[in-house]
Amino acid sequence: MRKQIAAANWKMNLTLQQGEQLLDDILSKHYQFTSHQQVVFAVPSPYLAAAQAKVKGVQHVFIAAQNCYNKKSGAYTGEVSVEMLTSLGIECVVLGHSERREYFAESNKFLADKVDIALEYRITPIFCCGEPLSIREAGTQNEYVAKQLEESLFHLDEASILKVVIAYEPIWAIGTGKTATSAQAQEIQAYLREVIASKYGQHVADSISILYGGSVKASNAKEIFSQPDVDGGLVGGASLIATEFEAIINALKQ
Ligand code: 13P
Repeated sequence: MRKQIAAANWKMNLTLQQGEQLLDDILSKHYQFTSHQQVVFAVPSPYLAAAQAKVKGVQHVFIAAQNCYNKKSGAYTGEVSVEMLTSLGIECVVLGHSERREYFAESNKFLADKVDIALEYRITPIFCCGEPLSIREAGTQNEYVAKQLEESLFHLDEASILKVVIAYEPIWAIGTGKTATSAQAQEIQAYLREVIASKYGQHVADSISILYGGSVKASNAKEIFSQPDVDGGLVGGASLIATEFEAIINALKQ
């Protein structure tokens, strides 16, 4: 079975103390993880070391960065390199979140470079894609999202793309309380798998985890995650509330 992942994206929220308390609360619960289930916390950069210390030795749980730069090192004030992440023991990075694309003008090409450098340092990219409302209303979401994958991921060889996790997040569903229906999530995620299959073959497409993100919460996670092409979720708002995220973890496919 593909990896089933409950990924929290804290975005730019919480103080260090609040974040540590949230991790303590969530990690203090007992989960019966199966071998293919994982939990990821994408925390703000200043908290990476503290968060990493909290999950040390905890099976199935990983800390992710929310971003990294596309250069190894140098005069890039304020940026975070993959080598820095590796030096903290971080194994995952969220790349191409729609907020990064929108507010920081991150292009598909720029993201392709970030994917490359993350993989070079053996860090798993959680690569985000998803369409704005205007594209959904025009009915061209499949082509739009496929292009994001083609321009940022399809230069990879088979072994490399197998290391990527994809998160489909329709922008109109992020932080709006307006979730895509489970049927909408399934439809486009099955399509993305077809696009991957036509480039890399069915065995590769069947191995890549595709998460859904956009107003996932305790009350809808089970229904969304039960879809055959949805392998868990990337969760913003609801990941900031311990009981909500615990329920989302427990909603992963067994
Ligand atoms: P919300 O769960 O708050 O809609 O955010 C989704 C998201 O952007 C996760 O990366």
